[in-house]
Amino acid sequence: PTATILALALGYLLGSVPFGLLITRAAGLGDVRNIGSGNIGATNVLRTGNKGLAALTLLCDALKGTAAVLIGAQWGLEAGLAAGFAAFLGHLFPVWLSFKGGKGVATYLGILIAFAWQGLLAFAITWLATAVISRYSSLSALVACIVTPVVIYMVGLPTHSLIVAAMSIIIFIKHRPNIERLLAGTESKIGSKG
Ligand code: G3P
Repeated sequence: PTATILALALGYLLGSVPFGLLITRAAGLGDVRNIGSGNIGATNVLRTGNKGLAALTLLCDALKGTAAVLIGAQWGLEAGLAAGFAAFLGHLFPVWLSFKGGKGVATYLGILIAFAWQGLLAFAITWLATAVISRYSSLSALVACIVTPVVIYMVGLPTHSLIVAAMSIIIFIKHRPNIERLLAGTESKIGSKG
């Protein structure tokens, strides 16, 4: 239990680093929360027009999830799972931003890297296919979030699948404004400034 508590704390701290905010600020682009959807994630960083910074945000927000799982796993499987989930929550609810963080998709991906490559592959294929057809980042993530826990379950990782399913549900809840915009036909497409 001590290891799991340590893993939770470390995971949360890692996850709570708001890379999108830090990277855009460091680049002199101001506060990314004042543009587009107001989110601190890569999709919204892309709305600054800077693809490189958006890619860097995606990479850093993902790798903090990967790092949390791998560090936690040094103390055992349970600690690894706990650290990953805590990193996800840290990204969504960072104490530094009055608990108003991101929507979790990049960090979810990073956790998948450490959990199961098949899950990452399933996510990537589903995301890309949906994005090519719809041009919506949010819709692509939501569809991929349904497929991924099922695939992880099918490859024989039921406990991992349960945690991924919980993260998928939380991602859906966090995307409520996006879902409303999608239904209203007002969601902005990938790369558009809206
Ligand atoms: O991962 C976030 C994406 O699904 C939606 O981002 O900025 O359009 O709300 P955004």
